[in-house]
Amino acid sequence: MTKNWTPQSWRGMPIKQVPSYPDAQALADVEARLRTYPPLVFAGEARKLTRQLAEVAEGRAFLLQGGDCAESFAEHGADNIRDFFRVFLQMAVVLTFGGSQPVVKIGRIAGQFAKPRSSDIETINGVELPSYRGDVINGIEFNEASRIPDPNRQEMVYRQSAATLNLLRAFAQGGYANLENVHKWTLGFVSDSPQNERYIALANRISETINFMRSIGITADSNHALRETDFYTSHEALLLGYEEALTRVDSTSGDWYGTSGHMMWIGDRTRQLDHAHIEYCRGIKNPIGMKCGPSLEADDLLRLIDRLNPENEAGRLTLIARFGYDKVEDHLPRLIRAVEKEGRKVVWSCDPMHGNTITAAGYKTRPFDRVLKEVQSFFAVHQAEGTHAGGIHIEMTGKNVTECTGGARAISAEELSDRYHTHCDPRLNADQALELAFLVAELLKKERDSQPQKVAASA
Ligand code: PEP
Ligand code: CO
Repeated sequence: MTKNWTPQSWRGMPIKQVPSYPDAQALADVEARLRTYPPLVFAGEARKLTRQLAEVAEGRAFLLQGGDCAESFAEHGADNIRDFFRVFLQMAVVLTFGGSQPVVKIGRIAGQFAKPRSSDIETINGVELPSYRGDVINGIEFNEASRIPDPNRQEMVYRQSAATLNLLRAFAQGGYANLENVHKWTLGFVSDSPQNERYIALANRISETINFMRSIGITADSNHALRETDFYTSHEALLLGYEEALTRVDSTSGDWYGTSGHMMWIGDRTRQLDHAHIEYCRGIKNPIGMKCGPSLEADDLLRLIDRLNPENEAGRLTLIARFGYDKVEDHLPRLIRAVEKEGRKVVWSCDPMHGNTITAAGYKTRPFDRVLKEVQSFFAVHQAEGTHAGGIHIEMTGKNVTECTGGARAISAEELSDRYHTHCDPRLNADQALELAFLVAELLKKERDSQPQKVAASA
């Protein structure tokens, strides 16, 4: 068990991005109730995810992590969850087939409700109010009452996360994710896009393979890998009181696990070595992610790795690089070299979203070509360093939104207002997400062709 750590030891540390609740007793009451609620995920699932991420760290698998920037109460519904899940499955199939590697699937979902903000204050037309911090903390409506942090929102988040996770588990294991359905996952609005043609061609090849396997006696009924998939949840562990309340001892190992999701990550604004967020995350045994932005120095990174993964366990720590399309080559090589020199086992993943946010026509947006460019540079740097480009971490939705410019449909800045629905950062729509997956599959193919074949350990 981790030394000098308890689920509440973070409370003694400096902390950033913390909301100020007006009623401390109401907050304590909510946290006390959450402590009595059932866990949302189980320790055994988190351990299985760590093992799968270890395969990524060893260069034998690829990580696909994605979902909303911020989930919301307003967008909670079966259609949204299904649309997200089927695009995610399509991306995973494209990556598995194109990259000839197992794909570890983690949603930013069923718990992604707390947002770090660059400013505590938002100003509109000269009116200043506290910033929106995610539905788990306050409301997005721009009025004084809605911006007051309300602890009761935490219970709503717990219940919404449970309901979302329940449907996701049903989709993943109840037949929807059966590979025989590969043709059924296409979304109506993608049907006239270039991605659709490519996807149908790929789905045809998969169907042929499945027919062949069926003819020699391997069917979805007899083989669970064809019938179901492992899907995991993740979110930023930002609101530590909520996380603490859902931290439980696993009775089989005696270890502590955060049970609000399978994987948690630490944001770029809250990764200070002696601060609360690192303290909380070092003590839970879940796989942990940490965002790495341009301000991260190599020696600080090594100290953070020591703190978060002292045993150097492969799969425990995923470093999520988010530099900006024109900064990857300045920053990533020095970090990779430091990690390699010290023999640290990490997963390297690329978040091509958070370093590429600009304002156009009054909207926060991300040009799709910059998103692609950041991923390409990420792969190029890994290729040059001889390391594995292990994954991507993206903000996406299954809906036909207009939040990021560009892509095959060439969404213009003027069109952003058509369907701009995000509660926080701009997301790739289904079309753009699939286009990105095809590009990454090509990059994975290139990586595979240029490196000695690595054989997957049997699961
Ligand atoms: C996020 O992932 O939504 C986020 C806020 O990222 P970062 O911490 O990298 O800015
Ligand atoms: Co975001």
